[in-house]
Amino acid sequence: MAVNGTTRRIAVLTSGGDSPGMNPAVRAVVRTAIARGAEVLGIRRGYTGMFTRNFVKMNARSVANIIDKGGTILGTSRCPQFLTPEGRQEALTILQEAGINGLVIIGGNGSLTGALELEKLGMPVIGLPGSIDNDLVGTDMAIGVDTCLNTIMSALDKIRDTASSHHRAFIIEVMGRNCGYLAQMACLNGGADVVVTPENNPTLEEIAQQLRQSRQRGRTHAIVIVAEGAHVKSQAIAHYLNKEIEEHYETRLTILGHVQRGGSPTSFDRTLATRLGARAVDALLAGKSGVMCGLVQGRFNETPLTEVVGKVRQIDLSIFELVKIMSQ
Ligand code: F6P
Repeated sequence: MAVNGTTRRIAVLTSGGDSPGMNPAVRAVVRTAIARGAEVLGIRRGYTGMFTRNFVKMNARSVANIIDKGGTILGTSRCPQFLTPEGRQEALTILQEAGINGLVIIGGNGSLTGALELEKLGMPVIGLPGSIDNDLVGTDMAIGVDTCLNTIMSALDKIRDTASSHHRAFIIEVMGRNCGYLAQMACLNGGADVVVTPENNPTLEEIAQQLRQSRQRGRTHAIVIVAEGAHVKSQAIAHYLNKEIEEHYETRLTILGHVQRGGSPTSFDRTLATRLGARAVDALLAGKSGVMCGLVQGRFNETPLTEVVGKVRQIDLSIFELVKIMSQ
């Protein structure tokens, strides 16, 4: 596609923590751009690849057989060089020298902050939400969240087998730096007893008390889900419970860690990534910039990056009450 006589040359990059669905998103960007007559380049290793001119020309075949692959074929990084004004100016010059006149950036809050900075310098940019944390304003679900939750569910179901066989209490730490979405949903859908997140932050004694009460109601094991970003840390909870509810349960701690980030994207994540990737290209070619495409109340839309970056999506606080009711 030519705009004002210039061929559109779009570049796509993935940045920050990888999330399952980034590959289907890249595939959708590449194939939609080609279908619309635009050229498309992949930038390898996120913002770092701008500085090293790590650009690769993409065609429909470059994204073949990646729809089911976790991670990102483009690679990713967290890039300190891009955090300085001088670094961003240098990156812009490099992009312009490469004839790039539009960017699709797939990532979380830090990556989209970079996207907004580039847009301020005059580069047309569309952001896509790629983060397992589901902490982004402007989308009900980010790419990768559904797969991650399914991974957590599968781990939790296995741990429950051991918890119930041994009559133990398990503390399970899940990811979520600033946001308790994963922990909250894992607790609700995994039949756990207590959830600890940055949003509810129960005290150590409140957690112990809930487990004593559930023991009195006849529960023979206990599961506490803790978001890594909660103020009360999982190790401290395990340590406390080991002493305080020793007469009821032996306590064990499992930190799920990076196992949550990988894996083949679920059908939901593939759909979300494909729809958003295609939408990002169409938005760019329609002259939009400085927005993130997302899914809000069942509809795809765009939210200005200024309303997305630096914020944390509010989780549904009423779920805490539902968790209590379900864990009786
Ligand atoms: O933002 C996604 C995330 O997985 C967070 O949940 C976690 O705190 C962080 O990334 C881990 O980052 P890294 O892989 O750089 O250690």
